[in-house]
Amino acid sequence: MTLTFEDLSPRMGAQVTIGKDELVGGTRAREIRALLDRRGVLLFRGLAPDDRELRAIARTLGDLRIGGAKRGADGKTLTEGDEGLMKISLDPDVNPEYARFLIGNHLWHMDGTYEEIPPLATLFTPYRLSKIGGDTMFANTYAAFEDLEPAERARLEKLRVVHTMQAALFPAKRDGTPEEFAVWHSYPQRSHPLVWRHRSGRKSLVLSTSGAYVEGMHPAESHDLLQRLMAHATQDKYTYRHKWKLGDLVIWDNTGAMHRVLPFDKESGREFHRCTLNGEEPVTGVAPEREPAMA
Ligand SMILES: [Fe+2]
Repeated sequence: MTLTFEDLSPRMGAQVTIGKDELVGGTRAREIRALLDRRGVLLFRGLAPDDRELRAIARTLGDLRIGGAKRGADGKTLTEGDEGLMKISLDPDVNPEYARFLIGNHLWHMDGTYEEIPPLATLFTPYRLSKIGGDTMFANTYAAFEDLEPAERARLEKLRVVHTMQAALFPAKRDGTPEEFAVWHSYPQRSHPLVWRHRSGRKSLVLSTSGAYVEGMHPAESHDLLQRLMAHATQDKYTYRHKWKLGDLVIWDNTGAMHRVLPFDKESGREFHRCTLNGEEPVTGVAPEREPAMA
Protein backbone atom coordinates (compact mmCIF):
# COMPACT_ATOMS: atom_id res chain seq x y z
CA MET A 1 0.00 0.00 0.00
CA THR A 2 1.39 3.39 -0.92
CA LEU A 3 1.25 6.37 1.35
CA THR A 4 -1.92 8.43 0.88
CA PHE A 5 -1.42 12.15 0.42
CA GLU A 6 -2.87 15.25 -1.22
CA ASP A 7 -0.92 18.24 -2.52
CA LEU A 8 -1.33 21.41 -0.44
CA SER A 9 -0.35 23.77 -3.25
CA PRO A 10 0.86 23.19 -6.80
CA ARG A 11 4.61 23.32 -6.03
CA MET A 12 4.83 22.85 -2.27
CA GLY A 13 3.47 20.63 0.48
CA ALA A 14 1.47 17.46 0.93
CA GLN A 15 -1.07 16.43 3.51
CA VAL A 16 -0.39 12.85 4.52
CA THR A 17 -2.93 10.43 5.92
CA ILE A 18 -1.36 7.94 8.32
CA GLY A 19 -2.15 6.59 11.78
CA LYS A 20 -0.09 7.83 14.70
CA ASP A 21 1.08 4.33 15.65
CA GLU A 22 2.33 3.75 12.13
CA LEU A 23 4.15 7.09 12.12
CA VAL A 24 5.72 6.56 15.54
CA GLY A 25 6.63 3.00 14.63
CA GLY A 26 8.53 4.17 11.57
CA THR A 27 7.17 1.53 9.21
CA ARG A 28 6.63 4.12 6.46
CA ALA A 29 9.72 6.21 7.23
CA ARG A 30 11.41 5.60 3.91
CA GLU A 31 8.32 6.72 1.94
CA ILE A 32 7.89 9.75 4.19
CA ARG A 33 11.49 10.82 3.62
CA ALA A 34 11.05 10.47 -0.14
CA LEU A 35 7.83 12.50 -0.06
CA LEU A 36 9.48 15.15 2.12
CA ASP A 37 12.23 15.50 -0.46
CA ARG A 38 9.67 15.83 -3.23
CA ARG A 39 7.07 18.09 -1.61
CA GLY A 40 9.16 20.07 0.94
CA VAL A 41 6.44 20.25 3.61
CA LEU A 42 4.38 17.39 5.04
CA LEU A 43 1.25 17.99 7.09
CA PHE A 44 -0.31 15.40 9.38
CA ARG A 45 -3.62 16.58 10.88
CA GLY A 46 -5.12 15.56 14.19
CA LEU A 47 -2.13 13.58 15.44
CA ALA A 48 -1.27 15.75 18.47
CA PRO A 49 1.99 13.97 19.22
CA ASP A 50 3.26 14.40 22.77
CA ASP A 51 6.95 15.10 23.39
CA ARG A 52 7.89 11.44 23.60
CA GLU A 53 6.08 10.65 20.36
CA LEU A 54 7.57 13.66 18.59
CA ARG A 55 11.09 12.50 19.47
CA ALA A 56 10.22 8.96 18.39
CA ILE A 57 8.88 10.10 15.01
CA ALA A 58 12.00 12.24 14.52
CA ARG A 59 14.25 9.27 15.21
CA THR A 60 12.50 7.17 12.56
CA LEU A 61 13.30 9.84 9.96
CA GLY A 62 16.86 10.80 10.78
CA ASP A 63 19.38 11.85 13.39
CA LEU A 64 17.62 13.76 16.18
CA ARG A 65 19.64 16.80 17.22
CA ILE A 66 20.57 16.68 20.88
CA GLY A 67 22.35 19.49 22.70
CA GLY A 68 23.61 22.75 21.32
CA ALA A 69 26.93 24.31 20.56
CA LYS A 70 26.32 27.95 19.78
CA ARG A 71 27.88 30.41 22.16
CA GLY A 72 27.51 34.16 22.02
CA ALA A 73 29.74 36.97 23.23
CA ASP A 74 27.72 37.01 26.42
CA GLY A 75 28.82 33.42 27.11
CA LYS A 76 25.37 31.88 26.76
CA THR A 77 25.17 28.47 25.16
CA LEU A 78 22.02 27.79 23.19
CA THR A 79 20.85 24.26 23.76
CA GLU A 80 18.28 22.27 21.81
CA GLY A 81 16.06 22.03 24.84
CA ASP A 82 15.10 18.83 26.60
CA GLU A 83 16.63 15.75 24.94
CA GLY A 84 16.15 17.10 21.49
CA LEU A 85 12.84 18.79 22.15
CA MET A 86 12.71 22.58 22.09
CA LYS A 87 9.83 24.82 23.14
CA ILE A 88 9.48 27.67 20.67
CA SER A 89 7.95 30.70 22.29
CA LEU A 90 8.59 34.43 22.40
CA ASP A 91 8.05 34.24 26.15
CA PRO A 92 11.46 34.32 27.86
CA ASP A 93 9.96 32.40 30.78
CA VAL A 94 9.26 29.47 28.44
CA ASN A 95 12.50 29.62 26.51
CA PRO A 96 14.95 31.99 28.16
CA GLU A 97 17.87 31.26 25.85
CA TYR A 98 16.22 31.42 22.46
CA ALA A 99 13.44 33.96 22.84
CA ARG A 100 15.63 36.89 21.88
CA PHE A 101 16.69 35.22 18.63
CA LEU A 102 13.23 34.17 17.52
CA ILE A 103 12.47 37.65 16.19
CA GLY A 104 14.37 36.54 13.08
CA ASN A 105 11.71 33.87 12.45
CA HIS A 106 9.42 36.53 11.00
CA LEU A 107 11.66 36.88 7.95
CA TRP A 108 12.24 34.28 5.24
CA HIS A 109 15.06 32.01 6.33
CA MET A 110 16.62 28.59 6.42
CA ASP A 111 17.69 27.28 9.82
CA GLY A 112 21.33 26.78 10.67
CA THR A 113 22.96 28.57 7.76
CA TYR A 114 25.85 29.27 10.16
CA GLU A 115 26.65 25.57 10.28
CA GLU A 116 28.77 23.65 7.82
CA ILE A 117 25.98 21.10 7.53
CA PRO A 118 22.59 22.81 7.99
CA PRO A 119 19.78 20.82 9.62
CA LEU A 120 17.94 18.38 7.38
CA ALA A 121 14.42 18.91 8.64
CA THR A 122 12.21 20.21 11.43
CA LEU A 123 9.20 18.60 13.11
CA PHE A 124 6.79 21.19 14.52
CA THR A 125 3.60 20.82 16.52
CA PRO A 126 1.53 23.56 18.19
CA TYR A 127 0.72 23.59 21.91
CA ARG A 128 -0.88 27.01 22.07
CA LEU A 129 -1.95 29.18 19.16
CA SER A 130 -2.43 32.91 18.88
CA LYS A 131 -5.97 34.06 18.11
CA ILE A 132 -4.77 36.25 15.26
CA GLY A 133 -1.84 35.72 12.90
CA GLY A 134 0.95 33.21 13.36
CA ASP A 135 0.52 31.25 10.12
CA THR A 136 3.75 29.72 8.87
CA MET A 137 4.82 30.16 5.27
CA PHE A 138 7.11 27.92 3.27
CA ALA A 139 8.85 28.58 -0.05
CA ASN A 140 10.23 25.92 -2.36
CA THR A 141 13.81 26.81 -3.28
CA TYR A 142 14.16 23.86 -5.65
CA ALA A 143 11.30 25.11 -7.81
CA ALA A 144 12.53 28.70 -7.67
CA PHE A 145 15.92 27.62 -9.01
CA GLU A 146 14.51 25.30 -11.65
CA ASP A 147 12.39 28.11 -13.15
CA LEU A 148 15.32 30.49 -13.75
CA GLU A 149 16.74 30.90 -17.24
CA PRO A 150 19.59 28.46 -17.99
CA ALA A 151 22.14 31.27 -18.36
CA GLU A 152 21.22 32.71 -14.97
CA ARG A 153 21.33 29.28 -13.33
CA ALA A 154 24.84 28.79 -14.69
CA ARG A 155 25.91 32.23 -13.43
CA LEU A 156 24.47 31.72 -9.95
CA GLU A 157 26.09 28.31 -9.62
CA LYS A 158 29.48 30.01 -9.52
CA LEU A 159 28.62 32.32 -6.57
CA ARG A 160 29.03 31.98 -2.82
CA VAL A 161 27.14 33.86 -0.12
CA VAL A 162 28.30 34.70 3.42
CA HIS A 163 25.62 34.13 6.07
CA THR A 164 25.70 36.09 9.32
CA MET A 165 23.58 36.46 12.44
CA GLN A 166 23.52 40.24 12.11
CA ALA A 167 22.12 39.98 8.58
CA ALA A 168 19.41 37.66 9.92
CA LEU A 169 18.42 39.74 12.94
CA PHE A 170 18.97 43.38 12.00
CA PRO A 171 15.99 43.47 9.56
CA ALA A 172 13.84 42.12 12.41
CA LYS A 173 15.10 44.67 14.91
CA ARG A 174 16.17 47.85 13.20
CA ASP A 175 16.63 49.59 16.55
CA GLY A 176 19.13 47.00 17.77
CA THR A 177 21.39 48.31 20.53
CA PRO A 178 25.19 48.27 20.32
CA GLU A 179 25.11 45.45 22.89
CA GLU A 180 22.75 43.40 20.69
CA PHE A 181 24.93 44.05 17.66
CA ALA A 182 27.93 42.81 19.62
CA VAL A 183 26.15 39.55 20.44
CA TRP A 184 24.94 39.05 16.86
CA HIS A 185 28.39 39.83 15.55
CA SER A 186 29.99 37.25 17.83
CA TYR A 187 28.26 34.33 16.11
CA PRO A 188 30.13 32.42 13.44
CA GLN A 189 29.81 33.45 9.82
CA ARG A 190 29.55 30.83 7.14
CA SER A 191 30.09 30.92 3.41
CA HIS A 192 27.89 28.61 1.32
CA PRO A 193 27.42 28.18 -2.41
CA LEU A 194 24.34 30.07 -3.61
CA VAL A 195 23.19 26.93 -5.40
CA TRP A 196 23.13 23.62 -3.56
CA ARG A 197 23.89 20.60 -5.65
CA HIS A 198 22.30 17.89 -3.53
CA ARG A 199 23.48 14.29 -3.44
CA SER A 200 20.20 13.45 -5.16
CA GLY A 201 21.37 15.48 -8.16
CA ARG A 202 18.68 18.13 -7.65
CA LYS A 203 19.66 21.77 -7.15
CA SER A 204 18.14 24.46 -4.96
CA LEU A 205 18.83 28.08 -4.06
CA VAL A 206 20.47 28.58 -0.67
CA LEU A 207 18.58 31.75 0.23
CA SER A 208 17.91 33.17 3.66
CA THR A 209 17.70 36.57 5.29
CA SER A 210 20.99 35.54 6.91
CA GLY A 211 22.64 35.83 3.47
CA ALA A 212 24.69 39.01 3.99
CA TYR A 213 26.61 39.36 0.75
CA VAL A 214 27.91 37.58 -2.31
CA GLU A 215 31.62 36.97 -2.07
CA GLY A 216 33.73 39.08 -4.40
CA MET A 217 30.81 41.16 -5.69
CA HIS A 218 30.32 44.90 -5.24
CA PRO A 219 28.08 45.41 -2.17
CA ALA A 220 25.41 47.24 -4.16
CA GLU A 221 25.27 44.58 -6.86
CA SER A 222 25.26 41.85 -4.21
CA HIS A 223 22.40 43.53 -2.32
CA ASP A 224 20.32 43.88 -5.48
CA LEU A 225 20.93 40.28 -6.55
CA LEU A 226 19.99 38.80 -3.17
CA GLN A 227 16.90 41.03 -2.93
CA ARG A 228 15.81 40.06 -6.44
CA LEU A 229 16.30 36.34 -5.81
CA MET A 230 14.41 36.56 -2.52
CA ALA A 231 11.49 38.26 -4.28
CA HIS A 232 11.60 35.64 -7.03
CA ALA A 233 11.72 32.64 -4.67
CA THR A 234 8.88 33.83 -2.46
CA GLN A 235 6.29 34.43 -5.18
CA ASP A 236 2.93 32.84 -4.43
CA LYS A 237 3.51 30.06 -6.93
CA TYR A 238 6.44 28.70 -4.88
CA THR A 239 4.88 29.02 -1.45
CA TYR A 240 2.49 27.27 0.87
CA ARG A 241 0.83 29.13 3.76
CA HIS A 242 -0.10 26.95 6.69
CA LYS A 243 -2.92 27.89 9.01
CA TRP A 244 -2.31 25.91 12.18
CA LYS A 245 -4.81 23.80 14.06
CA LEU A 246 -4.09 22.14 17.38
CA GLY A 247 -3.12 18.55 16.70
CA ASP A 248 -1.13 19.34 13.56
CA LEU A 249 2.29 17.95 12.94
CA VAL A 250 4.28 19.62 10.17
CA ILE A 251 7.64 18.40 8.94
CA TRP A 252 9.63 20.54 6.54
CA ASP A 253 12.78 20.01 4.54
CA ASN A 254 15.20 22.71 5.66
CA THR A 255 17.56 22.03 2.76
CA GLY A 256 15.13 22.86 -0.05
CA ALA A 257 12.78 25.36 1.54
CA MET A 258 12.66 28.64 3.42
CA HIS A 259 10.11 29.39 6.10
CA ARG A 260 8.77 32.32 8.12
CA VAL A 261 6.06 32.98 10.67
CA LEU A 262 3.56 35.75 10.01
CA PRO A 263 3.14 38.39 12.74
CA PHE A 264 1.09 37.46 15.80
CA ASP A 265 0.33 38.88 19.20
CA LYS A 266 3.48 38.60 21.32
CA GLU A 267 1.41 38.24 24.47
CA SER A 268 -0.68 35.40 23.06
CA GLY A 269 1.45 32.66 24.62
CA ARG A 270 1.87 31.00 21.20
CA GLU A 271 3.98 27.92 21.81
CA PHE A 272 5.22 25.10 19.61
CA HIS A 273 7.33 22.04 20.31
CA ARG A 274 10.08 21.30 17.86
CA CYS A 275 12.50 18.54 17.01
CA THR A 276 15.34 19.08 14.56
CA LEU A 277 17.04 16.46 12.41
CA ASN A 278 20.75 16.88 11.85
CA GLY A 279 21.85 17.53 8.30
CA GLU A 280 23.26 14.71 6.24
CA GLU A 281 25.24 16.58 3.61
CA PRO A 282 27.14 19.87 3.40
CA VAL A 283 25.97 22.58 1.02
CA THR A 284 27.87 21.46 -2.03
CA GLY A 285 28.33 23.73 -4.99
CA VAL A 286 28.68 22.81 -8.57
CA ALA A 287 32.28 22.01 -9.44
CA PRO A 288 33.79 24.71 -11.62
CA GLU A 289 34.08 23.68 -15.24
CA ARG A 290 37.54 22.65 -16.29
CA GLU A 291 39.28 24.73 -18.89
CA PRO A 292 39.40 22.73 -22.11
CA ALA A 293 42.76 21.06 -22.53
CA MET A 294 45.07 22.75 -24.99
CA ALA A 295 45.44 20.83 -28.23
FE1 LIG B 1 13.38 28.73 11.54
